Amino acid sequence: MALDIIIGAQWGDEGKGRITDLLAAQAAIVARYSGGDNAGHTVTVAGEIFKLHLIPSGIIHPGVICLIGNGTVINPAVLLREMAALAARGVDIGPHRLKISRSAHLITPAHVALDKAKEAQRGKDAIGTTLRGIGPAYTDKTGREGLRAELLADPEGLADHVHEHIARANDVLVKIYGAETLDATAVAAQFADYAQQLQPYLVDGSVLIDEALRHGRDVLAEGAQGTFLDLDHGSYPYVTSSWPTAGGALIGLGVGPNKVRRVIGVAKAFTSRVGSGPFPCELSGAEAGRLRGTGENPWDEYGTTTGRPRRVGWLDLVLLRHAVRINGLTEQVITKLDILSGLEKLPVCVAYERQGERLQHYPTDLRVLAECRPIYQTLDGWQENIMGARTLADLPANARRYVEFIAEQTETAVTYISVGPGRDQVIQV
Ligand code: IMP
Repeated sequence: MALDIIIGAQWGDEGKGRITDLLAAQAAIVARYSGGDNAGHTVTVAGEIFKLHLIPSGIIHPGVICLIGNGTVINPAVLLREMAALAARGVDIGPHRLKISRSAHLITPAHVALDKAKEAQRGKDAIGTTLRGIGPAYTDKTGREGLRAELLADPEGLADHVHEHIARANDVLVKIYGAETLDATAVAAQFADYAQQLQPYLVDGSVLIDEALRHGRDVLAEGAQGTFLDLDHGSYPYVTSSWPTAGGALIGLGVGPNKVRRVIGVAKAFTSRVGSGPFPCELSGAEAGRLRGTGENPWDEYGTTTGRPRRVGWLDLVLLRHAVRINGLTEQVITKLDILSGLEKLPVCVAYERQGERLQHYPTDLRVLAECRPIYQTLDGWQENIMGARTLADLPANARRYVEFIAEQTETAVTYISVGPGRDQVIQV
């Protein structure tokens, strides 16, 4: 019937996985369209925690087909590990359920080595990547030297490509970074083994989705990362190397814009980011600790993929307005509202101030962004525990006001609010 796209409206880690999980029940296909195992999606089902990096969160729903789309980069070793972990917990991950686009690109150990070497060389200017080889894999893709998943069905072609790719990468590793080289024969043998295991999963992702849509079924595009990690529209160069925005979903799956029904932006009730780069609303000390949590709970603000403590700050509506515009958001989902319970006052950034000037729009130039100071409007907090709320009416007036304020300021309706990590801890507005 239609394509619904789930987008991170901030710097990633907005809780997209659980919203995908919520909407996946009605979808025929859940598809990842960008990024790779830099992403980490935590889904809690009946108290069981699933941490997914590559496989769409829809896999938890029996009967839903999960596609890893052409816009993604896949480390086969990670994918196979993730498949094995799911299988061990009784999740069906057969080729009738899990599909890999033939045009997706592969991440090799050379991409990982290059990511590490580049980050080490950048020193204090490091981007703070997840060191998963994402940037180098996309560099090869845009440089037209990448390895596409279709090679997994062509043993000879795969071996040739791996040998050439490792030879090229070794050159760079040695000459530019003084790093250790990789053994092309060993990598080729590894990839031959991956190919045997993954070949049955290969499909034309665009055709798969088109057929579902033609049969009146719904498709859910599951975002990874967030708008501000987008290569074009994020805080460049402190971004990832793909397009986590709505345009990226169309390219990353091979679907036309006329098929899109909803573009759902997911935003946390506050802001977080991992990695480097300016962050106008960033907090430090006890205030940051209060939003971040201690790390004891899986939903505390520590990276799912890297375990790094996330940088945190108050909600930034300048960011959300940018996300609404760039993605054409039709609605928003606010997650983690419960984390704000107990705070007396809730500052919300409504604009930036730079050299005496008020900025309404997110500046694309990072040097300008680095000089921006948040202009806060402070709302009253609430003391009640809201984790049991299931309707808007269950929320204290100030919590409702907080959500209304976001909708007003971004001119975009809020359709869901999450108030806890459990599958049922969601309010449909
Ligand atoms: P890369 O994607 O590993 O190249 O990392 C580039 C930037 O994106 C770094 O700041 C990472 O911390 C950030 N990043 C990548 N994936 C995620 C994610 O899933 N959540 C949050 N940040 C991410």
